[in-house]
Amino acid sequence: MITLFERKDDKFRTELGGQALSVIAIENDFVEGVYDKLAGVYDWIFGPILHPGRLYAFDRIAIRPGDRVLEVGVGTGINASLYPRHCHVTGIDFSASMLEKARSRMRRKGLTHIRLLQMDAATLKFPDESFDIVYAPYVVNCVPDPIKVVGEMRRVCRPGGKIVILNHFRSDNAVLSRLDRALSPLTVHIGFKSDLDLPGFLAQADLQPVSIEKVSVPRLWSLVICRKD
Ligand SMILES: C[S@@+](CC[C@H](N)C(=O)[O-])C[C@H]1O[C@@H](n2cnc3c(N)ncnc32)[C@H](O)[C@@H]1O
Repeated sequence: MITLFERKDDKFRTELGGQALSVIAIENDFVEGVYDKLAGVYDWIFGPILHPGRLYAFDRIAIRPGDRVLEVGVGTGINASLYPRHCHVTGIDFSASMLEKARSRMRRKGLTHIRLLQMDAATLKFPDESFDIVYAPYVVNCVPDPIKVVGEMRRVCRPGGKIVILNHFRSDNAVLSRLDRALSPLTVHIGFKSDLDLPGFLAQADLQPVSIEKVSVPRLWSLVICRKD
């Protein structure tokens, strides 16, 4: 992990008008290490607090029979039982420990409509336009390069399909925004950057959402739904 303030080069900078999307720059090895350590306790720490957002997202995504769904950053498979049995789900994650938890969950619950693959979200190994819905719950602020990840999500989504992002972004309230920035060097050790800038992220990713909704109580998370042109 490297704080951007300390860097001389721009390797990790993702900017809009000179503004970095986060004060923090991370690399895959660091993130993988964090999630390998978190795997055993993830559901306890991030299960209940993030679940209202997950439930709301599923209502809004409205998966139809036969839909091919990709979940990016499937983690321990905590969303698995929310997917209707009438769709085909692929979950990818690069953390072997998180995937191991997901696999045992699938076996326990007999979730045969979900396949799990180990993969980096920034280099998806799927052909173009393979999915009807590409969903990233609580992931884009965990990855080194969120713009690259969204580029891949767009590539593998079919035209007219949905690209859905559920995430905490830097608050638009001035005080909370400062807090998000101050905390980000700490939160990154429990798996996420708290200060990812939503307007900058949308602009750089060239995403035009059909809706952005604040979700959960308190409304600290945003559900961003886009249609691929
Ligand atoms: C905060 S967890 C989200 C898990 C789950 N989607 C949920 O709703 O709780 C983020 C997950 O993204 C994974 N992840 C982070 N960077 C990744 C990358 N570059 N490629 C694939 N998975 C990644 C982590 O291993 C972790 O399992």
